[in-house]
Amino acid sequence: MLVGVENWSDSTVYKLTENLAIVQTLDFFTPIVNDPFDFGRIAAANSFSDIYAMGGKPVTAMNIVCFPIDTMDKAVLKAIIEGSLQVIYEAGAVMAGGHSVQDNEIKYGLSVTGVIHPDKIVTNTGAKPGDSLIITKPIGIGVLSTALKAKKLKIETQRYITEIMATLNKDASEAMLDIGVNACTDITGFGLLGHAINMAKASKVGMRIYAQKVPYIPEAIEFAEAGFIPKGSYLNQTYCLCHFKAKESVDQILLSLLSDAQTSGGLLISVPQQKAQQLIDRLKEKNTPCASIIGEVIPEPAGIIYVYP
Ligand code: CO
Ligand code: CO
Repeated sequence: MLVGVENWSDSTVYKLTENLAIVQTLDFFTPIVNDPFDFGRIAAANSFSDIYAMGGKPVTAMNIVCFPIDTMDKAVLKAIIEGSLQVIYEAGAVMAGGHSVQDNEIKYGLSVTGVIHPDKIVTNTGAKPGDSLIITKPIGIGVLSTALKAKKLKIETQRYITEIMATLNKDASEAMLDIGVNACTDITGFGLLGHAINMAKASKVGMRIYAQKVPYIPEAIEFAEAGFIPKGSYLNQTYCLCHFKAKESVDQILLSLLSDAQTSGGLLISVPQQKAQQLIDRLKEKNTPCASIIGEVIPEPAGIIYVYP
């Protein structure tokens, strides 16, 4: 076992030969959008994310299905699988069966196996003082999903967040492998701040994050002001509380969005500062949803994030 479950690692990595290791992960959840095809795409992109965060190349994906087969039209399940298949195809992987159980509430996701060279694994333990911190998707999915459930979201915003969530982190991962980076993780349920804290703890470094440099989906700021904060994000704020210090001048709404629980969020990459611009350029070439430097790694205090305006 090259990488286990310690240090909040995104996937586990098991060495098969000198040149080959497998990367494995599993993720599934309840629908967050109404359209079953889109839900399938999002669930699949989300499931691949932990493989991409470690620099792996996904090869097989197995379905995890919970479905009320007695009461719901099978066409719904078919659409979920079709959406998922489209993203599996984009990832260059194959669907390799799976398992389904009868359940009152739909849940769907994938168990993904990827391959990686044992010397090329990117983990969240290698961030170095002086590194620049870069993210590849904008923040605010949690707030906007809550607004969507409350039927408050404009159709364009609904489409926009669906596309953001259904976008694979494949291009972002390939860009970071091209440039060579020190550490990476993907931003999901713990929010930007929570995953940054885990990376800082695992790498035994501190970090500075500049709240105004973080790209937010504009409507997320409006809805956060209106109080559309998902439960998970409140829990994150509590978890993060003793691991970050915010300057008084930091906008409270932006601060709350730093803990916003993301679904299928982007990568958080720690890259040597002299390579940061190269990585930004490569991410832009590949057209990732965003490519922004949001902060830097500092030597200490280990596991603590300073939030600046
Ligand atoms: Co992850
Ligand atoms: Co995961």
